[in-house]
Amino acid sequence: MAHNDDIAALRMDYRKAELLEKDADPNPIHQFRLWFDNAMMAEIPEPNAMCLSTVYGDKPDSRIVLLKAIKEEGFVFFTNYHSSKGIQIEANPNVALNIVWLELERQIRINGVISKISAEESDHYFYSRPLESQIGAIVSTQSERLSSREALEQAMADALEKYKTESPVRPAHWGGYIVKPVEIEFWQGRTSRLHDRLQYQLINGQWEIVRLYP
Ligand SMILES: Cc1cc2nc3c(=O)[nH]c(=O)nc-3n(C[C@H](O)[C@H](O)[C@H](O)COP(=O)(O)O)c2cc1C
Repeated sequence: MAHNDDIAALRMDYRKAELLEKDADPNPIHQFRLWFDNAMMAEIPEPNAMCLSTVYGDKPDSRIVLLKAIKEEGFVFFTNYHSSKGIQIEANPNVALNIVWLELERQIRINGVISKISAEESDHYFYSRPLESQIGAIVSTQSERLSSREALEQAMADALEKYKTESPVRPAHWGGYIVKPVEIEFWQGRTSRLHDRLQYQLINGQWEIVRLYP
């Protein structure tokens, strides 16, 4: 049986791939698509799970959300605009995303500015979801205090009954955000901790690539 005492001894050498300037796409969104395809091909579970970090006052906060679209302008996910993250984003639109694909020994870090996508785009995704997910979004006042598990299940049961005879409507406070990147770093694990880090920086509308010490 594993013991926590063994944590310090956990050690992996990364040897699967390299990331060289000559192979990097000049456009980081295209480079992201390439690596995302690799993650799909590798059949990584939930390859679109990413950590979203926000800042509220002087306090950082983070949680996982699911990437639902890669656009030329940025990265789209869906949530409740009234949730804690929604309130934090309203106060400060500077956010960070982080994706790790350990099976590929890769990490991508994105810093950017977040904004809501259009109501039409949110509708399009909302109505593409399974009925139960649509109803779940209606029932959950995400991040608010919940009295008990039973209260949530009862609210869901009531809603399922109600929406037997009417169609759910997307709540105006549930929709998508897009993170428009200003900095994206691609990290490829290498042997002896000499990892590759290529950071794309948006300077005067142009992407420049710099290599960082690991
Ligand atoms: C794998 C995974 C995927 C998730 N995807 C989403 C998502 O796409 N949207 C979302 O609002 N919450 C998602 N969550 C839940 C969030 O991590 C978080 O608990 C929730 O959004 C409330 O965060 P907040 O209180 O900071 O607003 C996901 C959690 C996990 C573990």
